[in-house]
Formats: sequence, C-alpha cells, structure tokens
Amino acid sequence: MHFQGKSFLKISDFNKKEVEYLIDFAIHLKQLKKNNISHTYLKGQNIALLFEKSSTRTRAAFTVAANDLGAAPEFLGSGDIQLGKKESVSDTAKILGSMFDGLEFRGASQAVVEELAAHAGVPVWNGLTDDWHPTQMIGDFMTIKEEFSTFNGVKLVYSGDGRNNVANSLLVTAALLGADVTIAAPESLFPEESYVSLAKEYAKESGSTVEITSDVKSAVKDANVIYTDVWVSMGEEEHFEERVNTLLPYQVNKALLADVSEKFIFMHCLPAFHDTNTVYGKNVAEEFGIEEMEVTSEVFEADYARQFEQGENRMHSIKAIMAATNGNLFIPDLQ
Ligand code: CP
Ligand code: NVA
Repeated sequence: MHFQGKSFLKISDFNKKEVEYLIDFAIHLKQLKKNNISHTYLKGQNIALLFEKSSTRTRAAFTVAANDLGAAPEFLGSGDIQLGKKESVSDTAKILGSMFDGLEFRGASQAVVEELAAHAGVPVWNGLTDDWHPTQMIGDFMTIKEEFSTFNGVKLVYSGDGRNNVANSLLVTAALLGADVTIAAPESLFPEESYVSLAKEYAKESGSTVEITSDVKSAVKDANVIYTDVWVSMGEEEHFEERVNTLLPYQVNKALLADVSEKFIFMHCLPAFHDTNTVYGKNVAEEFGIEEMEVTSEVFEADYARQFEQGENRMHSIKAIMAATNGNLFIPDLQ
C-alpha cells in the first residue's frame, strides 16, 4: 500500500485494501487518543483548511486531528482569501502548496478540488463537494465496523435524497467494501448512472448487492443500517418545497423501522433537520405543516441511533487520512 503524497478527492482514489487500512488505522488512532498516547505523525507541518461552504464537524475534525498529529491548522474561509473572487484555482494551489504541507477543501465543485490537487504539489483532501464526501465515509464505515466487525452481509439502506454527495459516496463505498447497499429514493432523485455503474462494478468484485428503488417500505426489510441525510443539501435551497413534497414518504420514523433486522442501527452524517423549527431561514412547521423532516426525534434519540458516534469518528478517521497520506513517520502495519 502506498499512501504517501496522495490526495483523497473521491472514494475510487483508493482501492478496497487501502480503504480498509484507513478504517483500521482510524480505529487504532482512536485507541491511542483514548489512552493518551502521543501520535504526532505530522509534527512540524502546516495544514490549510479551505471552506467555501459552512461546516461544524469537518472543520472541527480537521482542526483537532491536525493539532493531535502535531501540525498547525489554518482556517481559510471563502471570505478570507482571494480564491473564487480574483485569483485562479491553480495559482491559489501553487501558493498554498508552497507554504502548507496539506490542504483540505470544502466547496460546491468537484472540478475545483481536483484542480487544487493537480497544482498544489501536496496532498489535498476533499472535505465535501456536491459530488462526493469521501472523508465522511471513512468515519461512517469505521462506525459500522465497530458495530458489526465486518461489512460482508451487512445490509445498508439509505432513504432520502439519492442524488447527493453522501448518497453517492455511501453507494460506492458500501459496494467497494462488500456491504449490501440499497438506495431508496423517488425516481426523480435516483443516483446518476455513473455512480450506480461504479458501485455495480465494485459489487461484482466484493460479492455484495446494489439496489436502487423507490419502494422504501420493502427496501428497509431486514436492514442492519438505515442511513439518511438532509432533504436539501447546501446550495440547493431553491428546491426546498419540491424536496419536502417528494421526500416525505422517505422520512425515517418508527413506522418505517417495523421490519428491520434485530441487529440494527440508524445513521446520519449530520447536521440533521429533526425537531427544527427553522431550516435555511424557513419556518418548516408554518410553511409546510410538518414538524420533522428526514428523521423523527423518536428515531434520532433511540438507543440504536449512532449519529454522534459517527461525528466523533470523523476526527479519528480524518487523522488516519492525513497521517497516512502525509505522515513523517512510517504508518503501522496493522495485519
Ligand atoms: N457531516 C458533516 O460533514 O458535517 P459538517 O457539515 O458539520 O462538517
Ligand atoms: N448532503 C449534505 C451533507 C452535509 C454534511 C450537504 O451537502 O449539505
């Protein structure tokens, strides 16, 4: 396995063994953190955190992970730098790459993160674009591994907006790792064909199954994991009303969970629109007559809900990604 100097822009940048390694390395680093054992793989480095879109978890995770690894993180918000206003992506990449040892980027465009990586000369990590959320996947599948010890035979059903960054990433990562994956969404929000065919290609190798359906009730039967995400992703606010109308049958509520497997967890990448009066400045209850969106509080607060474990695991997994691709020290052989 060769990680050194590589960027992580989309799931297919790494093969199955490498993704498994990152998950196991994240679990190992979590143990070191819990036992207060130093792990300064990035000692003396500087890491730039570029955020065009807002973030709680990803920003916090990169910041704490960099500090724990011995690096200095620097937050560069879209209002702070010239990128996107009067400086090109490639010039920005060359300048930042000449000073920093690694760059994280969150924004709308996958093309921008790819261009940054092409010109920076240092690893670039995708902290979310409209297409992919790869660092989220290492933390999520780490959470699934902690729970089930394996991916083979685990049935993961995603219910909701099947065309967003998280749905795309889950579909492809589950198939790569050998979990059986179903995307349950209205037809208008089925994943684009390129993600489905990539997932099917991976599933052939890993022996898992891939299903895309609008029949959510049948899909969730015997599910081990039901995962959902917001109905309206950042930058899609204009589709708010249409999403509420189309996605209401895909809400994860108690009734939907009637036939899930005995061994079951609920997952959500967060932030979640549950029990929230105001979302993107709209009073949802007043404007749409609903109190809850993609998940009900009853499910969100149940003992099978793992969204806060996932949140914490973002930090351990981002640490693994940065240490593997940019570490000064040899990464451990975890066999
Ligand atoms: N899950 C996630 O990426 O959260 P943030 O948007 O808060 O970073
Ligand atoms: N699909 C969501 C994920 C947030 C972490 C969004 O893009 O807003």
